[in-house]
Amino acid sequence: MKGLILAGGSGTRLRPLTYTGAKQLVPVANRPILFYVVDNLVGAGITDIGVIIAPETGAEIKAALGDGSRFGANLSYIPQDRPAGLAHAVATAEPFLRGSEFCMYLGDNLIGMPIRDAVSTFRSNPDVAAAVLLKEVPNPSSFGVAEVDANGHVVRLVEKPKEPRSNLALVGIYLFRPIIFDAIAKIQPSPRGELEITDAISKVIELGGRVDFGRVTSWWLDTGKKDDLLLANDTVLDDWLESAQEGDVDQASRISGRVKIGKGARVERSIIRGPVVIGDGAVVSHSRIGPFTAIGDRVSISRSTVEHSVIMQDSSIVDIARLEDSLIGKRVAVKPGASRHGALSLMVGDDCVVELSSD
Ligand code: G1P
Repeated sequence: MKGLILAGGSGTRLRPLTYTGAKQLVPVANRPILFYVVDNLVGAGITDIGVIIAPETGAEIKAALGDGSRFGANLSYIPQDRPAGLAHAVATAEPFLRGSEFCMYLGDNLIGMPIRDAVSTFRSNPDVAAAVLLKEVPNPSSFGVAEVDANGHVVRLVEKPKEPRSNLALVGIYLFRPIIFDAIAKIQPSPRGELEITDAISKVIELGGRVDFGRVTSWWLDTGKKDDLLLANDTVLDDWLESAQEGDVDQASRISGRVKIGKGARVERSIIRGPVVIGDGAVVSHSRIGPFTAIGDRVSISRSTVEHSVIMQDSSIVDIARLEDSLIGKRVAVKPGASRHGALSLMVGDDCVVELSSD
């Protein structure tokens, strides 16, 4: 069985972070979302994986994943010239998939459970044309929605319905047999101008194919806005972080709970309360960090308190009494200015949000 990861798209929901990078590479607990996706496929025994990339962000995705050997995978990159929909991406990958059954996984999705069982159930039922993973959600209109029957079959699928007939959302993990290509050839673009995979699966049902489903019983984070991303960070730190100490911690510092400190990182005269991850080459001095905080590679934090936040690589936080619930991008400097009568002096990029203390 092959894998197909979709890592194109523009990532409007994660602006401003996605102005300068691919949405699939936004870090959760210091690892790009996409790395968890590759891990989950490899964990299900799927190592021959195609990665769909877009012209804008393809080079960055390739640089991050490489040939896949460090994940135990063999990756092939498949350029998609325009964002014409998920079904268009599948059709683009047809030469790579060459008649094989495959698992398609959207590269910006994070779920808290292995897909291994769903994959092996599908593989052992050759009569099933396709299978989808579903999760009950409070806001089904934001997703593809499935209606299912008592026999465990999907009977209808609608993309972002105004009046959803169930609360079962498609989580962006699909299992297909080659009949999907016949179905894609028979569908038309949706009102948003895309060839929808949801419509292609409906077409499979119309053509007489059986579509099964599995349920996601863990958390699912379709990482959208700041709070979603902070929640993803909390959840992954809570569920998966293992303590590791590869950096230097001086005698005057105190570490409690689960804390991972990367290679070449230094912690001096600081208090770290896990779960916290500190990236390679980061320096934390005279500060308090955590809980629920991810400090990226080469970040520098001095004389500050940082709690429940994500600070991405190469940023610095200096002399900040208390920073919390914050998402700070790459190469950002947060520091007091040479204050003139308490005035603020800011240089902030497009679509950023600056919330100042109202105390
Ligand atoms: C896509 C799919 C949708 C699915 C969602 C999951 O939506 O079209 O059916 O529920 O991913 O994240 P999009 O992210 O393109 O709006």
